[in-house]
Amino acid sequence: MLRSALVTASRSPRCRSLVEGLPLARPVVGRFVAGHDVNAALRVTRTLARDRLVTLDRLGEDTTDRARAGSAVAAYRTLLATLAREGLAGRAEVSVKLSALGRALPADGDRIALDNAREICAAAAVAGTTVTVDMEDYASVDATLSIVAELRADFPWAGVVLQSYLRRTEADCADLAGPGSRVRLCKGAYDEPASVAYRRPAEVDASYVQCLKALLAGQGYPMVATHDPRLLAIAEALAARAGRSAGDHEYQMLHGVRTDEQRRLAARGPRVRVYVPYGAEWYPYFMRRLGERPANLVFFARALRGR
Ligand code: FDA
Repeated sequence: MLRSALVTASRSPRCRSLVEGLPLARPVVGRFVAGHDVNAALRVTRTLARDRLVTLDRLGEDTTDRARAGSAVAAYRTLLATLAREGLAGRAEVSVKLSALGRALPADGDRIALDNAREICAAAAVAGTTVTVDMEDYASVDATLSIVAELRADFPWAGVVLQSYLRRTEADCADLAGPGSRVRLCKGAYDEPASVAYRRPAEVDASYVQCLKALLAGQGYPMVATHDPRLLAIAEALAARAGRSAGDHEYQMLHGVRTDEQRRLAARGPRVRVYVPYGAEWYPYFMRRLGERPANLVFFARALRGR
């Protein structure tokens, strides 16, 4: 219930201006968000890249203004050129949300988002790195998968996120387990109804395991995105059973979450990638992170009270 409330609040303009205006919110936000600009993102990337890989997300979503979608593309182009110049493109890729690229625009949103995503993929190809398309709410899944299919015609390495809480995802994993496909599997962070999503954690986890089996037995490059110790252990066992080696799949976690585990896992040999968001539009991302763990909310409330 708490999670649903926070996901709802993440889309409320009133809650947004309230939380963004709290002077003490920033230090807590800083646990999950690298900073407001590309320089802050690069500082964090340089440190992480010593023992882990990185995927950088320039924050922003649900854009309903074409010029803002264009600014997001420009920001990604700058980021990618900088990663190449700094010699970081071999260790860092980018993650993008299609709703930041115009998918939610009333007229022709899907085509605009596709064209914008194409531009970012072309810049990534020049930089020598890859792009993964985040998955947003259920209503956007079909459009996201068809846009990624179009991107893959020109950029076969373009990756996509699938969410195990959706009842459809096991079938989507089977469809996307073919040669060259890059799929990041996560549990899912939005609030979806029982008609399309599993609501009980045990069901979400059981679906995650079925999806993992399909992806790890397939011919693609699975990206196991979870902090859940039980699922991580199962993923490692399934990867070994499928004859996978360290270079043909990876584990992914969020910046600021289970950092010790990220380091421990990377030190044992598997590839570990950290999802690093940056930018001024941290509010919806931050609210989803609060919703994932009730203790985060307590921590946030204490910080606001100055304790
Ligand atoms: P779970 O929520 O059960 O957490 C397991 C344990 O991890 C917790 O007990 C706690 O210790 C720790 N933990 C998890 N979240 C935490 C938090 N916020 N703060 C502190 N501790 C926390 N979702 C989506 O819908 N679309 C997407 O595109 C993506 N992309 C994405 C990329 C990557 C790299 C990751 C790791 C995750 C996503 N997600 C996502 C988010 C994902 O769907 C999910 O909400 C979170 O990863 C939390 O789920 P876990 O699998 O970690 O399990």
